[in-house]
Amino acid sequence: MKALVLAGGTGSRLRPFTHSGTKQLLPIANKPVLFYGLESIAEAGISEVGLVVGDYADDIRRAVGDGGSAFGLDVTYIPQNRPLGLAHAVSTARDFLADDDFLVYLGDNYLQDGVRDFIARARIRPAAARLLVTSVPDPSAFGVAEVEETGRVTRVEEKPVHPRSDLALIGVYAFSPAVHEAVGAIRPSARGELEITHAVQWLIDDGQDVLAEETTSVWRDTGSVDDMLEANRHVLDGLSGRLEGKVDPDSAVVGRVRLGEGAVVRGSRITGPVVIGPGSVISNAVIGPYTSIGANCRVHDSSIEASVLLDGADVECAGRIERSFIGRDAVVAAPRFPYAHRLVLGDHSKVQLHP
Ligand code: TTP
Repeated sequence: MKALVLAGGTGSRLRPFTHSGTKQLLPIANKPVLFYGLESIAEAGISEVGLVVGDYADDIRRAVGDGGSAFGLDVTYIPQNRPLGLAHAVSTARDFLADDDFLVYLGDNYLQDGVRDFIARARIRPAAARLLVTSVPDPSAFGVAEVEETGRVTRVEEKPVHPRSDLALIGVYAFSPAVHEAVGAIRPSARGELEITHAVQWLIDDGQDVLAEETTSVWRDTGSVDDMLEANRHVLDGLSGRLEGKVDPDSAVVGRVRLGEGAVVRGSRITGPVVIGPGSVISNAVIGPYTSIGANCRVHDSSIEASVLLDGADVECAGRIERSFIGRDAVVAAPRFPYAHRLVLGDHSKVQLHP
């Protein structure tokens, strides 16, 4: 069995971060979200991976490494010229997939339990398509499956206005090569994409075996900032502490805190779970809980909770910051006399100011 990991796309919901990078490399607890997926694929015993890449192909190649050997994988990069849908990504990878069964995994998915058990069951009981689904409160935002008690899927719909089930497709599929005929037969949807749900529905209409299994594992499609912060919270919940940097005697470190090499904490209180990357300097600050600070950041005279700072971010005299996602090398500073806010914000930025 092969794996096809989709790491192209537009990432419009994660602007402005996706103006300068790809969402699959945004970190959860200081590790790119894509890496969690690749690690779980390796753990499932799959080694041949096709990585579908778009505009930020070079960044992904640099992060993953040419052949993916750091993950124990054999990675082939598959450029998708335009993000024309998940089924289009499958057709772009047609040569790589050949006539093998394959897993499709969305590169911005975080699935705590990984795919090992799902793959094991798909190997024992192959089907034309096998879908991983989970119960959600707002199914109309997802692809939705109607599933019989036996696990047989009778219908799938993309973002239905009136969902007939609460089982959302979470972006993990195991396919037989039969799906290629389905992908070839479907037409673009109203939003102009070749939808994987339409290909699955084609298989159902053709009388082929389509199965679903429900998972209760923590799962996040990390497509928005709120989802990234939630995923960050879940991963930090399982963090084990390790202090490789320096903490001065005027500081207190409480709970599970991972402090990277060369990081310095001075006159501060850190309440875990918190991860602070190598080379970061925290002074006169209160950090945590549920906060991830990247490498070479600086936080001075500020308080930060339930937030993510990407590498090189600089926060000074900023008061209290909560539930924020601060980009690479971004600077946040207190207003100076006469205390007017001065803002230099990229397109689609969001700032909430205290009146
Ligand atoms: P989505 O999050 O559904 O789409 P998107 O990346 O375009 O984001 P947005 O809706 O915010 O604009 O994509 C799921 C995953 O599949 C994600 O990792 C990107 C990837 N993808 C491709 O590789 N090719 C594609 O054509 C599409 C649509 C997505």
